[in-house]
Amino acid sequence: MPTITVNLEEGDKTIEAAHGVKLVLALEDAGIDISHRCGGYGKCTTCACEISTGEPATKTQAEIDKGFDKGRLSCQILVENDMTVKPLMRVRDMNWDAPGNRPQDQITP
Ligand code: FES
Repeated sequence: MPTITVNLEEGDKTIEAAHGVKLVLALEDAGIDISHRCGGYGKCTTCACEISTGEPATKTQAEIDKGFDKGRLSCQILVENDMTVKPLMRVRDMNWDAPGNRPQDQITP
């Protein structure tokens, strides 16, 4: 079971994630207020994370098409190994009242 170290403003949090789970869902289900305003379709970039260790070498077509270069889109990443990540747009930091529709379990679109 992969371990994810999450760098948060209030300190690091370590979580265990099921192998193959979407990164955005692993973070949200661990109580981290990561944003996902487009519902996990690779369009909004609000789920972006800096990944300092364990970054996947490949990208989905949606992530390539988006061309976002300030981090990786956690809705487009499956957790397959230990990682260290830092969410870039948390709900509380953006003053939003909700993160967005819950992404589906599988990669979309
Ligand atoms: S790009 Fe919108 S939730 Fe990932």
